[in-house]
Amino acid sequence: MKKILSIIEGELKQAFSACGYDASYGKAVLSNRPDLCEYQCNGAMAAAKAYRKKPIDIASQVVEELSGGSMFSLCQAVMPGFINLRLSEKFLADYLKEMADDQERLGLDLCLQPKTIMVDYGGANVAKPLHVGHLRSAVIGECIKRMGKAMGHHMIGDVHLGDFGLQMGLIIEELRDRKPDLPYFDPAFTGEYPKEAPFTLSELEEIYPCASKKSKFKPEEARAQGMSEEEIEKKEQASKAFAERAHLATRRLQEGYQPYRAIWKHIMNLSVADLKKNYGRLQVYFDLWKGESDAQPYIDDLIRELEEKGLAYESQGALVVDIAEESDPKELPPCIVRKSDGAALYATSDLGTIIEREKDYKPDTYIYIADKRQELHFTQVFRVARKAGFVRPEVSMKFLGFGTMNGKDGKPFKTRDGGVMRLENLIDDINQAVYDRIMENRTVSSEEAKKTAEIVGLAALKYGDLSNQAAKDYVFDVDRFISFEGNTGPYILYTIVRITSILNKYREQGGESSPKILPPSSEGEKALMLKISRYNDVMENAFAELAPHKICQYIYELSNDFNRFYHDTKILAEEDKEKQAGYIGLISLTKDVLNQCIHVLGFEAPERM
Ligand code: ARG
Repeated sequence: MKKILSIIEGELKQAFSACGYDASYGKAVLSNRPDLCEYQCNGAMAAAKAYRKKPIDIASQVVEELSGGSMFSLCQAVMPGFINLRLSEKFLADYLKEMADDQERLGLDLCLQPKTIMVDYGGANVAKPLHVGHLRSAVIGECIKRMGKAMGHHMIGDVHLGDFGLQMGLIIEELRDRKPDLPYFDPAFTGEYPKEAPFTLSELEEIYPCASKKSKFKPEEARAQGMSEEEIEKKEQASKAFAERAHLATRRLQEGYQPYRAIWKHIMNLSVADLKKNYGRLQVYFDLWKGESDAQPYIDDLIRELEEKGLAYESQGALVVDIAEESDPKELPPCIVRKSDGAALYATSDLGTIIEREKDYKPDTYIYIADKRQELHFTQVFRVARKAGFVRPEVSMKFLGFGTMNGKDGKPFKTRDGGVMRLENLIDDINQAVYDRIMENRTVSSEEAKKTAEIVGLAALKYGDLSNQAAKDYVFDVDRFISFEGNTGPYILYTIVRITSILNKYREQGGESSPKILPPSSEGEKALMLKISRYNDVMENAFAELAPHKICQYIYELSNDFNRFYHDTKILAEEDKEKQAGYIGLISLTKDVLNQCIHVLGFEAPERM
């Protein structure tokens, strides 16, 4: 369906043109004075300069031309030259009826040119716990993917695991220290490696942090604890040696050393199953479970190509590619593609991944969702990929960087004892808080409350994140997020549940099953209808700007409009059956729109709450 704003603009353009002015002045915007009008056109002011006339004269002429049409109930020129517009009740009702008739898409057109869009999000690091830093990438990325899907694009979501980094070397060496007799550490071993993993998931979860700590001995801390200098010296040496071994093991793994590949596969099997479970709890689903390791086969060739094209050169022993451009406000450092010790880097593996994606999927657009502190990394990768021709020139590459999730103290969110908060604990905490709230008024069984708390908790968590502009830091505030009032996920769900309950009662009362959309009979009803009519515009715009918070803002306003309407209107007690059917049609449509929106945001509404 055409957007309301475009229809209004169509009328305005025609009118401007009929009056002898350039049609382009016929632009409409949502009114910033809802007390005066719903939409407005400021074009007469701009036209006045070009045509050397008074703005009010132009506005009056255009208004004259517009009156007589059936689209506006108000069309008025006001000083100094605004055109104030209100939609006619009938026009608005017809528009909503068309939306309601299109049950599947509610008037949201499929895009004319569907694109293949690769969304790189999640970015968990295998064998390290999924922490809150990864939460934002998963939540925002899933929403971006669903937004694009709703527009009809071919979206491919790839988790792009960090599965080939130093953590693997650390685990291997820690394992060697703990279980030196494993066949993986016996160079003379020629048999088949065991099918059984040499550790359980919970062991693995303990091995990595332990190894990581071992590789980073901190002398100051030890000194503060009163350790002797001699002991410190010894520990420091051991830590350095361990770190070196881990680096070497990582390198050998990356080069394909079989015994380490075998350990790596065990780590992957356990860890990826666990990650799938955790992402599943967040209702985050990836089409591809690829990772940095999949980029490995492309790296030698890509480095050779960069050298042959004269793009990569040696600098202080490393191999780098210049990416600075004259228009940069400050000079950007070159992209390092190979370290002096020969190891490939984060950027190199992202370049390898691009080459693989070009080979397998040829995306028209790439969208990467990661912490905004990685912006330089992505600028470097994108520019190298373009310079080297790894991507076709018309491909668009976007980085959506997000801010930090802070605690109430304004510092990055931590557990109560200051440690890294694990995602699963965070989810448990929020579900528990919602559960407690539901049980306060104890109208449902604890079993049902538990189920509902999971659904509502997820909405609280995701909405709390998505309702902020992605690039901004935000404060994770459980009490606020789970509140049933204000701009929160639970408030939106509560609104949907309220509508469901009215619809159920209506049906129980034997209400007719074919609801209608009628012209509004009150200001509140019209406000609700106007908001609904903006649905397709909001969705298109939110995707174009990769801005989930715009959908949140919209459904918050829509919920407010509904609740105001509900407060002022007796729906179930309405005696005029025709009128009642109109109310029912309107609130059903409200519910449909809300449901479509929350589905795109990545959560669902419960039956009751
Ligand atoms: N694993 C990375 C991290 O934890 C995020 C990956 C982002 N995606 C990418 N293609 N580099 O920081």
